[in-house]
Amino acid sequence: MEPSFQSLSCAVALFLSITALYYYLSSKPNPHRNLPPTPPSLPIIGHLHLLKPPLHRTLHRFSQALGPVFSLRFGSRPVVVVSSPPLVEECFTRNDVVLANRPKFLSGKYFSYNYTGIATAPYGDHWRNLRRLMSLEIFSASRLNDSSPIRQAQVELLLLDLCRNSSVNFSRVELKSKLSELSFNVIMRMIAGERCSEEAGEFRGLVSEAFELCDAANPGDFVPVLRWVDFGGYEKNLKRIHGRLDAFFQHLIDEHRRDRGNDSMIDHLLSLQESQPEYYTDEIIKGLILALIFAGTDTSAVTMEWAMALLVNHPEVLKKARAELDAYVGQDRLVDESDLSKLNYLQAIILETLRLFPAAPLLVPHMPSSDCTIGGFDVPRDTILLVNTWAIHRDPELWDNPTSFNPERFKDGEVEGHKLMPFGMGRRACPGSSLAQRVVGLVLGSLIQCFEWERVSEEAVDLSEGKGLTMPKLEPLEAMCKARAIMRKVLSK
Ligand code: HEM
Repeated sequence: MEPSFQSLSCAVALFLSITALYYYLSSKPNPHRNLPPTPPSLPIIGHLHLLKPPLHRTLHRFSQALGPVFSLRFGSRPVVVVSSPPLVEECFTRNDVVLANRPKFLSGKYFSYNYTGIATAPYGDHWRNLRRLMSLEIFSASRLNDSSPIRQAQVELLLLDLCRNSSVNFSRVELKSKLSELSFNVIMRMIAGERCSEEAGEFRGLVSEAFELCDAANPGDFVPVLRWVDFGGYEKNLKRIHGRLDAFFQHLIDEHRRDRGNDSMIDHLLSLQESQPEYYTDEIIKGLILALIFAGTDTSAVTMEWAMALLVNHPEVLKKARAELDAYVGQDRLVDESDLSKLNYLQAIILETLRLFPAAPLLVPHMPSSDCTIGGFDVPRDTILLVNTWAIHRDPELWDNPTSFNPERFKDGEVEGHKLMPFGMGRRACPGSSLAQRVVGLVLGSLIQCFEWERVSEEAVDLSEGKGLTMPKLEPLEAMCKARAIMRKVLSK
């Protein structure tokens, strides 16, 4: 018998009522718990309707009304937001182990190989092993020294590219795309050596698509009923892009296996696979590669773009940085990574950029593996924890003139307390910070040493931030540049 329209409507109404009741009951605060303060919410969606981008600014407004620790509901998922140094210290010292988990989002099932990749893996032996492997095989000082010619070569390519139209007069350049390309090529060459070049263009496109998918929050992660129906075809897209990325990586690994070199990261991982094949599977290797590309390309690229935007807006700072480079390095050779530790003013510019524009303004979400307390409030297990570093970095109680760009504030190199943490803190802090500092330092140092920079008009560059996980600049940065004398030497090489 065909179901009548009326009985179908009844079934739908019943289903929606049960779902609403379930959410209402599960989102009702437990009276025995002392949960952090929370604003009024709606059934089912919780506070989702209040979350206007950029999220760090919205959460900052909440913290001004509710205090440095407050709670929200993103649909069915409880969220706690922390925005003060003492609470951050509590999270990542006393509570560091309990908070060392990550919440699961659907994107991690695909892009992080079923949550086995380093950035999404639960805290435990597997994650510890990946971190150990990374710090030995990629980020140790000796491995980073070995891979420094890769970065130097990519920087020289950028300098030559910029010089093409600017050797005599100032010419206008769009820096965002050039810095993204450099960042991507550096990571890919560290991972795969020269072999990634042929299909790299197509592959970059795929990575951008994957990034966009992770950027666009998936409603099904917060309202499970939407996941069952694959609202907006989100999971279908994840599967499609993951399938193509996976095929690209498998091809790369197979090529390296057939024709072994010994310098790239894939070569090192394949050697480990020979001795421990059951642990270092192709999946684990692919997960590591993807994590490095996801975590390491955009973060460094946006930091360099913000730094250049700030420098063209502050010619007096640019002039001082150039004077430092001329004094320590001169105009006879290019700056290299071994110079960076002596360039204190350049380092201060980088710290000040990371303070104002941290590429991960809310860190990466953490999640307690058991009930804990933060700031005297109860935080139940499986709550999503967000740390608003952006707000801490601009807190007038902690910084003089917090919104002004003033590298002089870091002239002694030291920062007291936990008021600056662009790379996070504790066990899950960024393992790539030393690589990032080398890349950002080398690129900025080279751009300042080799070119004069100006704004494209009298007007200051607009510093509004756009939507996106890594806090990109709303408008891609354009600037005027003109080669300095040293570029003649670089060209003659
Ligand atoms: C300016 C550049 C960068 C910034 C600002 C940055 C910042 C961060 C932050 C805030 C976290 C999360 C910390 C937490 O959860 O508490 C993180 C995690 C991570 N970063 Fe970076 N990062 C940068 C560059 C890099 C690079 C170059 C790589 C590697 C090539 C990298 C690899 C990772 C990985 C794998 C994680 C996850 C660690 C884990 O969950 O155990 N990052 N980063």
